[in-house]
Amino acid sequence: MKVTVFGIGYVGLVQAAVLAEVGHDVVCVDVDQNKVDNLKKGIIPIYEPGLTPLVTSNYEGGRVDFTTDAKRGVEHGELIFIAVGTPPDEDGSADLKYVLAVAKTIATHMQKHKIIINKSTVPVGTADRVKAKVTETLAELEKSVTFDVVSNPEFLKEGAAVNDCMRPDRIVLGIESEKAEKKLRELYAPFNRNHDKVIIMDIRSAELTKYAANCMLATKISFMNEMANLAERFGADIENVRRGIGSDPRIGYQFIYPGCGYGGSCFPKDVQALIRSANQVGYEAKILESVEAVNYTQKEKLFEYIMSHFDGDIGGKTVALWGLSFKPNTDDMREASSRVLMELLWEKGVTVQAFDPEAMEETQRIYGSRPDLKLVGTKEAALDGADFLVVCTEWQSFRAPDFDRIKEKLSLPLIFDGRNLYDPKIMSEYGLHYYAIGRGLSIKGQQL
Ligand SMILES: NC(=O)c1ccc[n+]([C@@H]2O[C@H](COP(=O)([O-])OP(=O)(O)OC[C@H]3O[C@@H](n4cnc5c(N)ncnc54)[C@H](O)[C@@H]3O)[C@@H](O)[C@H]2O)c1
Repeated sequence: MKVTVFGIGYVGLVQAAVLAEVGHDVVCVDVDQNKVDNLKKGIIPIYEPGLTPLVTSNYEGGRVDFTTDAKRGVEHGELIFIAVGTPPDEDGSADLKYVLAVAKTIATHMQKHKIIINKSTVPVGTADRVKAKVTETLAELEKSVTFDVVSNPEFLKEGAAVNDCMRPDRIVLGIESEKAEKKLRELYAPFNRNHDKVIIMDIRSAELTKYAANCMLATKISFMNEMANLAERFGADIENVRRGIGSDPRIGYQFIYPGCGYGGSCFPKDVQALIRSANQVGYEAKILESVEAVNYTQKEKLFEYIMSHFDGDIGGKTVALWGLSFKPNTDDMREASSRVLMELLWEKGVTVQAFDPEAMEETQRIYGSRPDLKLVGTKEAALDGADFLVVCTEWQSFRAPDFDRIKEKLSLPLIFDGRNLYDPKIMSEYGLHYYAIGRGLSIKGQQL
């Protein structure tokens, strides 16, 4: 099938590559000329496991192409995806300017029936706004062309995006016309062989489903962080509590890891956007407001431990920081907990010596060159000349480090762990002073 994808980001690029891989004929359109030029040279703008070979082989095989020519894109696809960003507006609500700009572009160039599929995460009612924008533009241009608008939210996880798109656990379609449903089922048939994963519903429910999913996951994390904060005060160990409740199948083990807060391009903005959407219909989303508030303070947790440990006297220190991306297996730094920590430390005159397996370039792009940020090539190099170690992201390569070496290299035998990677007893055996989240051991004075 001929498919066009507007927006070559985490969602658009992965979706396009996966559709091309099963044989569809895909054209990707972006406004970023540099991104398009790089993709044509085989330079992939993001780190996502398995994505580079998928994109390059399908580009070389002629099944996917990249362009800034919107007219060509609109002419090409009978199915046109909108996968552009929906960043937070000043008040936290989703900014729809990119989505509506694409709707206008499609209407401007379309000469025959198109199925417009919204994959961006958008507030309930956006499909109506897309429809209105297309209708209005067609009227201005005095064109009479029919079209469908479908809501098809994306549930991929960064770090596992290719696998999630290849083997989706659900394909949610908010759809009004039988003709569009038939086409979408045909498009997704290669991903729907094992059992029927297609869930058809009305458009507004599909739009809300995406927010409900992300807000539920963010709620689990903030709930667990609240329990961690209690565990700390009660002298309990949240990791025991986690195992104790995760074993209940009604609760489950997934997404109940305590830590230094959630980040990324989705949870923070989607929770905020749903809070704002709720306000607009006269409802106060109290749970979501708390989820956001707990996460906000949780991101400062490591800084609090550090300040408390040193009685606020941290100016001039050098910290070894392991992990910059908001989670492992991505280079995405949007809303990363590491950013909150680094910015707080810099205000106090601390130098950050950091290593991340994938997010160093992105960190450099965001913060530029500054004397209090040193990006080094290995996790060991981050320890050189540092006073203490902080772990912000749970990359695999940080899980079983050489603790003797850590102790030898740091000027103080001290670790602050924002992801609870290590066993406090083992840390104690190595003679390392260890702070973790909610382990009843992190309050100052409670030496292990
Ligand atoms: N990143 C994720 O894990 C994820 C998961 C599910 C859903 N989503 C949602 O999908 C949407 C896209 O997210 P993303 O992370 O891929 O965004 P992104 O910022 O990585 O990419 C968006 C792309 O759209 C391009 N763009 C902007 N305006 C355009 C226009 N008029 N025409 C063509 N291209 C244009 C940008 O240049 C950019 O390359 C968002 O609504 C997001 O909430 C993201």
